[in-house]
Amino acid sequence: MEVVIVDAPEVGGALVAGAIAALIDRQPAATLGLATGSSPLPVYADLARRHREEELSFARARAFLLDEYVGLPAGHPQSYRAFIARELESHVDFGDGAVQAPDVSGDGPDLLAACAAYDAAIAGAGGVDLQLLGIGGDGHIGFNEPGSSLGSRTRLKTLTEDTRRDNARFFGSPDEVPRHVVTQGIGTILDARHLVLVAFGTAKASAVAAAVEGPVSAMVPASALQLHPHATVVVDEPAAALLELSGYYRETWAAKPPWQGL
Ligand code: F6R
Repeated sequence: MEVVIVDAPEVGGALVAGAIAALIDRQPAATLGLATGSSPLPVYADLARRHREEELSFARARAFLLDEYVGLPAGHPQSYRAFIARELESHVDFGDGAVQAPDVSGDGPDLLAACAAYDAAIAGAGGVDLQLLGIGGDGHIGFNEPGSSLGSRTRLKTLTEDTRRDNARFFGSPDEVPRHVVTQGIGTILDARHLVLVAFGTAKASAVAAAVEGPVSAMVPASALQLHPHATVVVDEPAAALLELSGYYRETWAAKPPWQGL
């Protein structure tokens, strides 16, 4: 796993956007995995800038969202489908239908079938080339809360009270945050060819340290990145504060041959 410690979220955003731009340059029909929440916003801002100023085009690319709330009315501004439309799609040039989110409109067997269909759609697109991830304060990735199977596939999950409280900033109150979500499983996420996790701020420091340097455990879902052959973690100084090997990560990054990229 590569850990890159940056001076500010904007620097991390530009670095990750650069890796996405390089991927699209090599492979214009690349498939991206998109996260929502505040962590990826600097990445999306820089992708929008590259589209505006450098002709970066997503016209042949596809994307799959990591997760979606269950129970919000269609088009709710805090649905992850609406979030990604607002923060990324509306600023770039994805084709119609190129960005997909889990279908949470059904119930019971219909929802189960929609989860299986989502995994099948990702596989049918040839798999995800680069999966962007944030991390929850409790170590979740996607909405795989602690205790999630490391082999899990896309399915219904229940958010913890802590996560609902964290996400209340996007809603009026914790009570308005849906209790249920559909999320790609940890096994689904691990199928992507490159995982890029971004984390900024002190509130992420203990989750980042547990994920990067702690034991691989379902109690810290993001620790599953340790099993992946190509995982990159981009953190700012506050989020890196509890990493024991931070000196080594800095040295490695400073000495990295430029041709290697992320
Ligand atoms: C969102 C997602 C979550 C968030 C995590 C961190 O699609 O999958 O895992 O990445 O909850 O959220 P922020 O970035 O808002 O701190």
